[in-house]
Amino acid sequence: FSIRQATTRDFQEIQQANLANLPENYSLKYLLYHAISWPQGSYVATMTSGGQERIVGYVLTKMEDDNQELPPNSPPSAHITSVSVNRTYRKLGIAGALLKQSLRSMRESYGAELVSLHVRESNKAALHLYKNTLGFEVLEVSAGYYADNEDAYSMKKVLDDSL
Ligand code: ACO
Repeated sequence: FSIRQATTRDFQEIQQANLANLPENYSLKYLLYHAISWPQGSYVATMTSGGQERIVGYVLTKMEDDNQELPPNSPPSAHITSVSVNRTYRKLGIAGALLKQSLRSMRESYGAELVSLHVRESNKAALHLYKNTLGFEVLEVSAGYYADNEDAYSMKKVLDDSL
């Protein structure tokens, strides 16, 4: 697989992957808002066969912006909106590679000092990825965060040279 920055042309395929891989889905408008506002934050993993490139995974990352009630003097923070890898391409290191690339880039391009995300407490694969592979810590449990009332772990990581 190879990894490259996502372009606005990729977002229809990213939306399809998001629908297939996760219950948390977004409008094309909201997905494109990532590409337009923080173009260096979103990446796709691709495979090419028969001269045809296909997206097999993506990560969408944003900066926390003014709409969110951040405490005063908060450090600039990135937020991972969504990451997924198509089923047959899992456990090959694709999500880890996408996330590392995106987080390095959020730090270098937008000065992010922290990164946050939410994950379902039942999502073993994602929890392993965030905690063990990438070194995130659980900040708190957000009770009933998801539409079906499942709790979320709210996780954070300080961005440094280790990525
Ligand atoms: N159970 C336990 N550990 C797992 C599993 C699993 N099912 N899948 C992967 N891992 C481990 C890997 O062994 C690896 O560990 P290591 O670094 O110790 O060797 C680590 O997690 C990273 O593995 P990758 O191969 O990089 O992950 P992958 O490309 O398979 O993608 C992902 C992981 C994104 C969670 C994938 O399973 C997926 O798309 N799931 C559905 C969508 C989803 O849940 N996305 C995250 C939602 S949270 C959010 O978006 C903010």
